[in-house]
Formats: sequence, C-alpha cells, structure tokens
Amino acid sequence: MKFFVDTADVDAIRELNELGLVDGVTTNPSLIAKSGRDILEVTKEICDMIDGPVSAEVVATEYEAMVEEGFKLAEIAPNIAIKVPLTLDGLRACRTFSAEGKMVNVTLCFSANQALLAAKAGATYISPFVGRLDDINIDGLELIADIRTIYDNYGYETQILAASIRSANHMSDCAKIGADVATAPPAVIKAMANHVLTDKGLAAFLADAEKAGIKIV
Ligand code: G3P
Repeated sequence: MKFFVDTADVDAIRELNELGLVDGVTTNPSLIAKSGRDILEVTKEICDMIDGPVSAEVVATEYEAMVEEGFKLAEIAPNIAIKVPLTLDGLRACRTFSAEGKMVNVTLCFSANQALLAAKAGATYISPFVGRLDDINIDGLELIADIRTIYDNYGYETQILAASIRSANHMSDCAKIGADVATAPPAVIKAMANHVLTDKGLAAFLADAEKAGIKIV
C-alpha cells in the first residue's frame, strides 16, 4: 500500500520524506488554508520535494471554471494530480483532464456508486472518506471493501486512495482490504510505529547494555 501524507505543512512532509515514508501528498482547500500560504507557491514547494503525485484541489464548482483551474494547477509540476469533487461537473472535468494525460484524484466520495462513476470517468484515484463516514455511524471501511470488490470485478485501473484516515488502525485495516493508497495526517503515520512492548523492550535492552558496558563505536 502506498502512503500519501495528507497535509500542506512542508516541514512535516520533509520529516516523513526523510524517513522514506512518503509516496505522495494530498492537499485540499482546508489544508492549504491551514498552511497560511499561497496555494501555487506551497504546492510547487511540495512538488519539488516529493518524488510522487501531489494532489491539488480546484475550488470552482462549474465545469469550465474547474477545467481552467485544473490546467493551471497542472502547470505547477508534472507530478500534480488535479483533485476535483465528486459532482457531475467534477466527473466531466475528470474525463477532460484524463483525456489530456493528467492524473486526476476524485475526492469527497461517500458511496460505491460514486466510486463507480469516477472509474468510468477515467480517474487515476478515487478518494473515499473513511473517517467522515464513521463520524455519522456508517462504516467507512466497508465502503473501501465495496469499492475494492467493484473495481476488481471489472478490472478498473482507478486506484483506491483511502482518505479521512484518523488512526493507525485505519491504516492497517485499509491495507488488509487492499486499498491501493492511504492518505493520512503525519501524526497518524508516525503513530503506526508505536507499541508499548517496543518501548518496554528497548528500555530493558538499554539498561542491560549500560550494565554490561557494551560499546559499539
Ligand atoms: O483527505 C481528506 C482528508 O483531508 C479529510 O480528512 O479528517 O478532515 O475528514 P478529515
């Protein structure tokens, strides 16, 4: 499973990238707003840092304006994935971008039917929001599993990009289901390394090393 980091915080992206844990980046208007930076400038900085797709989202809602914005975003760098919302205009724009060879991430997906439409529109990625479904007592992981089944039934090449990931457990659950990608905030990706027995075992090893005077270099 590929790991995308869901943030526009360049320092956090750099830190995870140095750990070798970043296959790509996703942003959205809320994350850009949180960064306090200009969208074109911060997205360019991320694209230059990362050797993988960087999703940048349009803010227009009508087809022509979405197309204009999407092509402008795509000019930032060759690794831009244009992100469009799962609306009829967004699906039409997706078709236009994919016909031009651009990567497209169709976002705000909350149902299997929406994911089916995105695949038919030639999306590179579909972004089902796991956490936001969980928030309203609908099983977000079940949606990931349903989309996996549907895409596999027909050999759709659209990649399932599990989004709105809120916990380390979501990451392993998405991997078990077979999501192609999961995008998560930096803290969630780092939390995957945590285990109380690792901490306890390391403390014991270090105490024994100290007692025995073990030195390696
Ligand atoms: O990738 C979409 C993500 O940013 C939404 O996450 O936690 O705001 O539902 P959240």
